[in-house]
Amino acid sequence: MKKSEIFIILVLHIVTFVQLSHNKLVDSEVAVKCAAVKCALNDSVCLTKQAQNTLQSFVKGIPELGIQKIDKLHIDDVIVHTPKFHYAWVNITVAGMKNAIFDKVSINREFKYIRVLFHTNMVMEFDYKCDGILLSLLRVYGDGIGNITLNDIQMEILFMYDIVKDDNGKDIMDLHTYYYGANSAGGVRYYFSNIFDGDVKKSELLLDTMNESWRIFMSNFGGYFNRKITDKLYYALKIYLRSCPLEEIAQY
Ligand SMILES: *[C@@H]1O[C@H](CO)[C@@H](O)[C@H](O)[C@H]1NC(C)=O
Ligand SMILES: *[C@@H]1O[C@H](CO)[C@@H](O)[C@H](O)[C@H]1NC(C)=O
Ligand SMILES: *[C@@H]1O[C@H](CO)[C@@H](O)[C@H](O)[C@H]1NC(C)=O
Ligand SMILES: *[C@@H]1O[C@H](CO)[C@@H](O)[C@H](O)[C@H]1NC(C)=O
Repeated sequence: MKKSEIFIILVLHIVTFVQLSHNKLVDSEVAVKCAAVKCALNDSVCLTKQAQNTLQSFVKGIPELGIQKIDKLHIDDVIVHTPKFHYAWVNITVAGMKNAIFDKVSINREFKYIRVLFHTNMVMEFDYKCDGILLSLLRVYGDGIGNITLNDIQMEILFMYDIVKDDNGKDIMDLHTYYYGANSAGGVRYYFSNIFDGDVKKSELLLDTMNESWRIFMSNFGGYFNRKITDKLYYALKIYLRSCPLEEIAQY
């Protein structure tokens, strides 16, 4: 089945797909996309391979679908106000999905979910502003550009579905929610320019602490960003699955 493909699509096209209307997808895009090799729903080896192969074809772009190759994924702004600490990240891009390695893609028909496990290195770049007391450490403030490197991030997503009929009476997978978990096996590297309005010594102290205690920063702040990424994947996959009857994408 093509779950895998779907997923990929998402990954790669997030931007494109999410912006396309549902109708548009049904008209032309999907015709091509739905027609690839079909895996049995219980054949995880096939699904995983499909995911990987499709990823490569999307990396190069699919002109007939109007899909350009995509290196960087744009995600929504992250604006967080906690009682003591405020920060805003805008103009965020995430690179690295194109190199994702799918470790396993499977479908659990009992519990009705698609499970996707992949790993990659991700680099997020953004413009930031922040002010407030960070983790009882000190007052942190600044306004500049930043980047975060997540080394060997491993991401697991369960896309929960129901089987419903589309307008033509054909079965489709209707995603209704998802759950994810992630860990960065190779650690995380943080960089923020102009933090403390350019005080280099203080910046280094802070960045060293963040790099060293990355687990603390990941678990306290990572969720805000990770969910923005997985939301894109989820919505793109949802749109795709809604547009492709199961019989066209899997041995069903
Ligand atoms: C999938 O299910 C079919 C039919 O139940 C079975 O014959 C086949 O061996 C299963 N394939 C795998 C990879 O488990
Ligand atoms: C977004 O970031 C890119 C590169 O990081 C930069 O060229 C562009 O000017 C930024 N856009 C805005 C609206 O800040
Ligand atoms: C992060 O930004 C700094 C400063 O611009 C740069 O030296 C570094 O290479 C960047 N890291 C990545 C992974 O892009
Ligand atoms: C933390 O990361 C920054 C930016 O990549 C780097 O300059 C610094 O040396 C790192 N510090 C540690 C302790 O790894």
